[in-house]
Amino acid sequence: DLIPVITIDGPTASGKGTLASSLATRLGYRFLDSGSLYRIAALLAMEAGVDLDDGRQVEMLARRVGHSIPLHFDGEHVWLDGRDVGADLRREEVGQAASRISANPGVRQALLDLQKAFRALPGLVADGRDMGTVVFPDASLKVFLTASVAQRAERRYKQLISKGFSANLKEICADLEARDLRDRTRAVAPLKPAADARSLDNSALSIDESVDTVLNSWVEGW
Ligand code: C5P
Repeated sequence: DLIPVITIDGPTASGKGTLASSLATRLGYRFLDSGSLYRIAALLAMEAGVDLDDGRQVEMLARRVGHSIPLHFDGEHVWLDGRDVGADLRREEVGQAASRISANPGVRQALLDLQKAFRALPGLVADGRDMGTVVFPDASLKVFLTASVAQRAERRYKQLISKGFSANLKEICADLEARDLRDRTRAVAPLKPAADARSLDNSALSIDESVDTVLNSWVEGW
């Protein structure tokens, strides 16, 4: 595929989304926040009162997200069948539910083609857990982004407070660690760096510094 893709994978709240969307803006590329697709499937399951461990039901909902429900991304807004679920998707319990259902291979398969379809000219920046390993294995540039748990918890805390949610730093730390463990140890598409990914620890970097680091190394060739 000649259409360039930059993949940014890494653990929860490592700053993937911010880095990926900033890169996309700088390059004029499209942007895929793949976690939002898992969050949408999770939200639908929660709203429908479906047991998250009911693999077949959850898979059916994921297939609707992947193939039939009208879906439109517009910055913070995510239009799902005509309603804006952007704020709902960011809720912590939706993230936890997304992490649970994303261990289901049927759910991952149901969302695969939709993710690949984001690859269009002039290029794509995609963030998630398996962008470089599974969805875009031939990506032009693969980044595995990390940051300390303390840094990530603090960022997530500030993000929630700034959006008017209540938040507890200790609980956030525990949630992050639970989610990371589940994402790293699942059988299908676990969170891990692609063999040809470049690791970047952004604990001490500003957003602009992270963006510049990635862009410079792309120009120079890692
Ligand atoms: O990145 P975000 O926190 O929005 O993702 C929510 C959950 O969706 C993650 O904890 C992970 O389990 C799952 N996910 C995934 N593969 C991706 C993106 C997200 O399994 N590519």
